[in-house]
Amino acid sequence: MKFFVDTADVAAIRELAELGMVDGVTTNPSLILKSGRDIVEVTREICAITDGPVSAEVVATEAAAMVAEGRRLAGIAPNIAIKLPLTWDGLKACKVLTGEGRMVNVTLCFSANQALLAAKAGATFISPFIGRLDDINLDGAGLIADIRTIYDNYGFRTQILAASIRTVNHVADVAKIGADIATVPPEIIRKLAHHPLTDAGLATFLKDWAKTGQKIL
Ligand code: E4P
Repeated sequence: MKFFVDTADVAAIRELAELGMVDGVTTNPSLILKSGRDIVEVTREICAITDGPVSAEVVATEAAAMVAEGRRLAGIAPNIAIKLPLTWDGLKACKVLTGEGRMVNVTLCFSANQALLAAKAGATFISPFIGRLDDINLDGAGLIADIRTIYDNYGFRTQILAASIRTVNHVADVAKIGADIATVPPEIIRKLAHHPLTDAGLATFLKDWAKTGQKIL
């Protein structure tokens, strides 16, 4: 499973990229707000850090205006994936922009039927928001499983990009189901390394090592 980083924080992306953890990046208007940066400037900087797809989201709501904004965003760098909301107009814009050979990430997906429409409109990526479904007592991981089944049934090539990942368990859950990609906030990626038994085991080894009186270097 590929890891995209769900942030517009350039320093965090750079640190994770040095560890080989960044296969791409996703941003959205809320993450741009959080960064405090200009969308074009920050997106250009992110695109220079990774060769992977970097999602930049349109804010127009009518198809023709979405297409125009999408083309503008795609001009920032060759690895831009234009992010479009899963509305009827978003699907129309998806069809146009993918027809021009551009990468499109259809976002704000909350149902299997929406994902089916996005695949038929030629989306490169579909972003089901699992955390927001779990927030209202629905089954985010179940949605990923349903989309996996539907896409595999018919050979759709749209990649499942599990989004709105809030916990370390979400990451393992979507990996087991077979999501193509998970977009994960940097702090959750760091948490994936933690295990209390690792910490306890290391403490014991270091204590015993000190008793040997030896040095490796
Ligand atoms: C990714 O594409 C989404 O913008 C993001 O994962 C949304 O996450 P949130 O529900 O935690 O805001």
